[in-house]
Amino acid sequence: MSAALFLRPAICETAIATAAAVSANSTYSRRPASILCCRRRTLTTICCSMDGGDAKPTAYVSGFLSKKPYDPPSWASHLRPVPSNTFSLGHLPTPIHRWNLPNLPDGTDVWIKRDDLSGMQLSGNKVRKLEFLMADAVANGADCVITVGGIQSNHCRATAVAAKYLYLDCYLILRTSKVLVDKDPGLVGNLLVERLVGAHIDLVSKEEYAKIGSVTLAALLKEKLMKEGKNPYIIPVGGSNCLGTWGYIEAIREVEQQIQSSCGELQFDDIVVACGSGGTIAGLSLGSRLSSLKAKVHAFSVCDDSTYFYNFVQGLIDGLEAGLDSHDIVDIQNAKGLGYAMNTPEELKFVKDIAAATGVVLDPVYSGKAAYGMLKDMAANPTKWKGRKILFIHTGGLLGLYDKIEQMASLAGDWRRMEIDESIPREDGKGKMF
Ligand SMILES: Cc1ncc(COP(=O)(O)O)c(C=O)c1O
Repeated sequence: MSAALFLRPAICETAIATAAAVSANSTYSRRPASILCCRRRTLTTICCSMDGGDAKPTAYVSGFLSKKPYDPPSWASHLRPVPSNTFSLGHLPTPIHRWNLPNLPDGTDVWIKRDDLSGMQLSGNKVRKLEFLMADAVANGADCVITVGGIQSNHCRATAVAAKYLYLDCYLILRTSKVLVDKDPGLVGNLLVERLVGAHIDLVSKEEYAKIGSVTLAALLKEKLMKEGKNPYIIPVGGSNCLGTWGYIEAIREVEQQIQSSCGELQFDDIVVACGSGGTIAGLSLGSRLSSLKAKVHAFSVCDDSTYFYNFVQGLIDGLEAGLDSHDIVDIQNAKGLGYAMNTPEELKFVKDIAAATGVVLDPVYSGKAAYGMLKDMAANPTKWKGRKILFIHTGGLLGLYDKIEQMASLAGDWRRMEIDESIPREDGKGKMF
């Protein structure tokens, strides 16, 4: 069996669909591709061949950052509304390879889909959602995007980068503690990338966030920016709305094609993934149920509780007119531990041990907690997992590790001063230091 599978999913380039909006804060575009062409520098070069009614881009060198008419998988074509377009932002398909985790139940086989490798500064699961959300922002004539998240939000960082790729300005509302809200947030982890790409950052305290809510905070900022003559597009927390859900419906099409290219050798009984705002599990579970995959989706939530997420996913399912019950398509377990973005020493040691054993670096806030939760569940209920073929989705978030440096210092690998015998010949200028 091949250890790694790479296959570009067939992204159909048929005529532009004219679907209506899914997102709560926007309407899906009905504008033809040619209208976009001259709005921004990057799009001009990429899209000018789409003028004159020809929807097929013909003149770009690579598909990256290009806009494509969206054609859903046949098994998802009954969902409504269907997005009109996507922007190619991710390095897709992401590889799938075997993941030799220690202490698995008998016959359990774990594979990992590396959505952490969907890009560099624009990486992780958010890329897939942003392919749809950014296309909608551009189609709606936005000149900037607003989104909201925690101080180390991977989603906010990915949005900031994607916005700049498309020559949009980006405004981030970041939640932090009361004691830090009036201070410079610094440059650790995701903040460094956000600030390098010039995202505008507004800090709010957790207390303000809890009392006002992300929707109102974003609306307040939108109002302010509109008074300044801007045309902002709001992307909800985590990119988790119906439109963003298509990102992981598409990911299932990608997995389906990777399975097909394995000539039947590869198949999965279960999919395991972290859950933060709920959009990823909504797309995966819908896609898995509707496609040929039919793998059971297990979500490990890192905040809130399972009741909240069953309801949230139900909202997305209903918004897409899928006619399914969230309880039937996803199993949600709590892996929050001490709280969102907080880790026990055991969880951090787990991240370190898995990195040392397999080379895969999990992030401490999402995939680390999900994998920790999965292995704990396997130890507690081995018969549930025995003999199963599992696909774990690594959703990225590596930059979040930088926020844990102090806590991880004692776990990190050792170092030493190299011993060099005095007898080794030395000569000035012998070693070139580039
Ligand atoms: C690295 C990472 N993994 C997983 C998730 C969870 O995805 P979702 O918000 O779609 O539930 C997030 C969300 O912020 C994330 O940043």
